[in-house]
Amino acid sequence: MTQILGIESSCDETAAAVVCDGVHVASNVIASQHDLHAAYGGVVPEVASRAHLERIEAVIRTSARDAEVQLEKIDAIAVGNRPGLIGSLLVGTSAAKALAWSLEKPLIGVDHVQAHLYAAFMAYCGESFDLTGAASTERRARRDTAMADLFPSLGLVVSGGHTSLYALASPTDLTRLGKTRDDAVGEAYDKAAVILGLGYPGGPNVDRAAAQGNATHCHLPRSLLGPDSLDFSFSGLKTALLYRVRGHPQGRGNAASYPRSSKDLSDTDRLDLAASFQEAAVDVVIEKLDRARQAMSIPPRSLLVGGGVSANRLLRHRCKELEDPWEMKVCLPPLPLCVDNAAMIAGMAFEHHLQGRHDELDLCAFASTKVG
Ligand code: KG4
Ligand code: ZN
Repeated sequence: MTQILGIESSCDETAAAVVCDGVHVASNVIASQHDLHAAYGGVVPEVASRAHLERIEAVIRTSARDAEVQLEKIDAIAVGNRPGLIGSLLVGTSAAKALAWSLEKPLIGVDHVQAHLYAAFMAYCGESFDLTGAASTERRARRDTAMADLFPSLGLVVSGGHTSLYALASPTDLTRLGKTRDDAVGEAYDKAAVILGLGYPGGPNVDRAAAQGNATHCHLPRSLLGPDSLDFSFSGLKTALLYRVRGHPQGRGNAASYPRSSKDLSDTDRLDLAASFQEAAVDVVIEKLDRARQAMSIPPRSLLVGGGVSANRLLRHRCKELEDPWEMKVCLPPLPLCVDNAAMIAGMAFEHHLQGRHDELDLCAFASTKVG
């Protein structure tokens, strides 16, 4: 059996997990910092890195305890070392390096964006097979079966920092097909929450409000960037919502003044606008998925969806609906594997480990992803 300890600290969740043979989550500990950032309406990088520093050791120890494994028995230490807030990433990366050095274990740096897609692969394995009491050989065989079932695959990452489409030949072999040219979809959700006065964390609040609203209340723009583009743009949708709520501004930049504020919205209008915003955002994602699927040279056998916005109820529903007409397996992570977590880091690291891809102790943290 290969047990990998994963560490994740790219933004505002301090997380550690133990994953066996890439697919069985033995523990998954997430210490959220939402309470610390709520007062500011968004993540404050310095506050985030300090909180990671205070929590990381306890989170790692808890993940080992929950998995009933001693750190000495772990086979490798994995860390999400890119992309993210650099101060936050450095905390996890330093902790992983210290553990790898002191325990004399291999170190594996993982790209967090790629790991979001692996979470969907893990979900498929977890849902399709009972892996809990399985022997290591059986787990590996299941993973091999899942590989054959799901690849080549179309991947969609929808998070606070990324909105990208990928063609995947395997979990480690991916080519980016499209990406956002401005805001990521999660960022658009977060900004929509501010515009609508729905508070932090924005995405889940808009999701909840939208579930009670009428999506046909108003038609907000769907930016498709031309008939063949696989890129995304959400800034126009965000501005359209802003003008709808506050009216057209007079003046520009910081000097702009608006005729109305979000406080002037009735409760019903707030819910209806959240629903209308969400409908437009999700329509765009589905349209781009359709284009990407048709653009792939080999028809994909599956759709892997990952990232915080894959927790969104409407997006999940609309993706699941595609399964029969598109004749592909749609894999969505369970909610704890949608948002930032360390299980996906440990899982992804297993694939690198199998290929003998380990890092040296001079591993760095990077603000940007390797996979676009
Ligand atoms: O993957 P993630 O946890 O962090 C990044 O890698 O960015 O994604 C966070 C994003 C945030 O923008 C958050 O508002 C959004 O995911 N999010 C949601 C939902 N849950 C989280 N957006 C829409 N609906 C949700 N239920
Ligand atoms: Zn993420």
